[in-house]
Amino acid sequence: MKTTIIVTGAAGFIGSHTCDRLLVEGHRVIGVDDLSSGRAANLEDASRDPGFAFEGFDLRAPGRFSALVEAARPAAIIHLAGLVSVQASIRDPRLNFSLNLELTHLVAEAAREQAVPRVVFASSAAIYGDFPHLPLREDIAPQPLTPYGAAKAASEQLLLGHARTYGFVARCQRYFNVFGPRQDPASPYSGVIAIFLDRMQAARSPVIYGDGGQTRDFVAVQDVARANVLAATRPGLASGVVNICSGRSTRLNDLAAALAAATGFGGPVTHAGAKPGDIRHSAGDPGRAREQLGFACEWSLADALAALAHSTRPAVAKS
Ligand code: UD1
Repeated sequence: MKTTIIVTGAAGFIGSHTCDRLLVEGHRVIGVDDLSSGRAANLEDASRDPGFAFEGFDLRAPGRFSALVEAARPAAIIHLAGLVSVQASIRDPRLNFSLNLELTHLVAEAAREQAVPRVVFASSAAIYGDFPHLPLREDIAPQPLTPYGAAKAASEQLLLGHARTYGFVARCQRYFNVFGPRQDPASPYSGVIAIFLDRMQAARSPVIYGDGGQTRDFVAVQDVARANVLAATRPGLASGVVNICSGRSTRLNDLAAALAAATGFGGPVTHAGAKPGDIRHSAGDPGRAREQLGFACEWSLADALAALAHSTRPAVAKS
């Protein structure tokens, strides 16, 4: 059934792909973003679709979000707005509290007041901290190591509690290492794939911190967007928490080699000292998302990297 869905953080990396996917499936989408970190250019495709409307305001503006929800009567809110940088959450825990917990409460309240049937929330593998037994399963008690991870864990509980008390469905999506088009490589805290790609396309060596034997579970943003749409629209879902991951472990050294193949980069890979606090291994168990959402990744890492390298314009070579 085609419905109206509100997406917060619509102009962000995951938000814009989620809007695109909803529109492809024929839903009406209202994207909300204050453009503080999201970019209007990310919504170029969506904005050409008559089913898309954009609302540019800060969710904390008094009464604005609630009034929008009241007018739109959405079947779901997909709440992706937040502070995305873990490092920024360490530097500024107050800002993290406001953007990664207060906003969740605001969205939960709007859902309660306007009887929105479903809320989908952008949670993170960061809630697991450095749990040593892999793959990571959803029933592990959260042990976040940063204000970012703590706010994500608290937001999950806040939403699930509101959902139980007031009778809506809350779906918490724990994203692993998401990558793909529109991920900003400019910040030193960007995802490793965006950074490596940017450097290789500018004929600069990527820097691997440590020996490159560390592993991550990389998931393509197009798959994440599809998982968000399933969480928002799949009939009959109860509240729950799921990993959004591929279930595959990739060593950093292998990632660098795959990206070199995808970009044609022939230069050397540089190694530097390991980052303090860097997690050695991370891999999620994708089983529960398969059971509850019918979700499994469709993109292999190699195909997604090849498509990404193809779609990204090489940067001007830097000195
Ligand atoms: C991700 C989050 C991080 C969070 C953690 C917890 C991102 C971008 N980061 O970190 O904020 O605390 O999950 O689950 O999503 N690397 C290099 N060279 C580089 C950049 C990175 O070798 O130029 C290495 C890192 O040291 C790390 C791996 O690549 O071992 C992945 O790094 P990154 O993409 O930052 O993600 P996480 O460390 O998993």
